[in-house]
Amino acid sequence: MRLLVTGGAGFIGSNFIRQYLARNPADSILNLDKLTYAGNLENLAEVENHSGYRFVKGDVCDGALAAELVRDERPDAIVHFAAESHVDRSILEPSPAFETNLRGTFTLLEAAREFKVERFLQISTDEVYGSLAEPLEADENFPLRASSPYAAAKAGADLLALSFFTTYKTPVIVTRASNNYGPRQFPEKFIPLMITNALENRPLPIYGDGLQVRDWLHVEDHCAAIESVVARGRPGEIYNIGGNCSRDNLSVAREILRLTGRPESLLQTVVDRPGHDRRYALASAKLERELGWSPRTGFAEGLARTIEWYRSHDGWVARVKGGEYRQYYQQHYENREQTLSRL
Ligand code: NAD
Ligand code: TYD
Repeated sequence: MRLLVTGGAGFIGSNFIRQYLARNPADSILNLDKLTYAGNLENLAEVENHSGYRFVKGDVCDGALAAELVRDERPDAIVHFAAESHVDRSILEPSPAFETNLRGTFTLLEAAREFKVERFLQISTDEVYGSLAEPLEADENFPLRASSPYAAAKAGADLLALSFFTTYKTPVIVTRASNNYGPRQFPEKFIPLMITNALENRPLPIYGDGLQVRDWLHVEDHCAAIESVVARGRPGEIYNIGGNCSRDNLSVAREILRLTGRPESLLQTVVDRPGHDRRYALASAKLERELGWSPRTGFAEGLARTIEWYRSHDGWVARVKGGEYRQYYQQHYENREQTLSRL
C-alpha cells in the first residue's frame, strides 16, 4: 500500500507512521504536514531513513499541491490527520480551525475525487457529538452537537466527507476517536500538560470543578484501529473508536500526582473553559463487531508508560515548551489564575 498521510508530524500522525511502517515495512508513506506549532519532525526521527518514508512540507489548504501530490504519488489511501486540534486555541482564535479542519479537508477531498483515490480516511473525534448526560453513549448515528469551534469544524468536515461519498462515490470512511493520550502529545492537552507540570513542580490547572468526564484511549490502540479501517473498513461508514475508560479530570490529575510523587497541593482550580463539554462517551461496538478491534492498553499501564516517556524525554519537553508555547501558556492561563484556588 502507498499512503498519503496528512498531519503526520503531530501527535497521533507520528505515532501512526512509526507504528504502521514497523508493522508494514514494505508499504510506503508520504507525509504532508505544514509544521505548525504542533508539528515536530523530531517525532519521526525513527523513520527518517526508512526507504518507504518521505516528507513534504505543505498546507492541506493548498489545492494545487494536494492535486500534484495525489497525481504524482497515486496513493492507495489518504489518511487525513492534519487539523488544528486544540479546543482552547480554537476558542482563543477560531479561524485556523475553520481553515485547516474544514477547508483543508475539502481541498483533499477534491484531489481524492479527481484522481479516484480508493480510500479516504477522515480522522475525526467524539467531540462532534457534544456533551452527553449519563448514561448516554453516542453510537455512529447519534446527532451532531458540537460545542467548540474546533469540534464544529470537525463535524462540518465529517459531513463534507460523507457528502462526497453520497454524491461522487468517493470512498470516504470517517473514524471518530475519544481523547487520546500517550508519548509525543503536545503539552497543551490535559494529560501531557498535567504530567509535565507535575514533573516541573508547577501548578496543575483544573478547569471548573474538574468533574468533566473523558474516555481515554491510548494512541497505540487508536493507531491500530486506524490501520484496520484502512485495510478493511467499509466506504461510506463511520466508525467510533473509544477507549472504554471513562475518568473525570480530577481523578486523572490526582493519579498523575501520585505516580510522579508530587503533592496534591499542586492542584489548582482555574476559570472554566467557555462552552466546556461535561461528558463524552462513545459506543464503539460497530468497530469491534466488524473489524475485531478493541483497546488493549489499560489506563493504569498506559498512564504509567506515558509518564515514563515524558520523564525520559526532558529534552523533547524543554524544546516543545520553549518559544511559542510560553507565550500561549501566558495568554491562556494568566487571566485564569486570578481565581486560582486550592482544591
Ligand atoms: P496535533 O495537533 O498533535 O497535530 C496536528 C498536525 O497537523 C501537526 O503536525 C500540524 O503541523 C499539522 N497541520 C496543522 N495544520 C495543517 C495544515 N493546514 N496543513 C498541513 N498540516 C497541518 O493533532 P493530533 O492530536 O495528532 O490530532 C490528529 C487528528 O486526530 C486531528 O484531526 C484530530 O481532530 C483528531 N483527533 C485527535 C484526538 C486527540 O485526543 N488528540 C482525538 C480524536 C481525534
Ligand atoms: P483537552 O486535553 O483539551 O481535550 P478536550 O477538551 O478536547 O477533551 O482537555 C481534556 C479535559 O481536561 C477537558 O475537560 C478540559 C480539561 N482541562 C483542564 O481541566 N485543564 C487544562 O489546562 C486543560 C488543557 C484541559
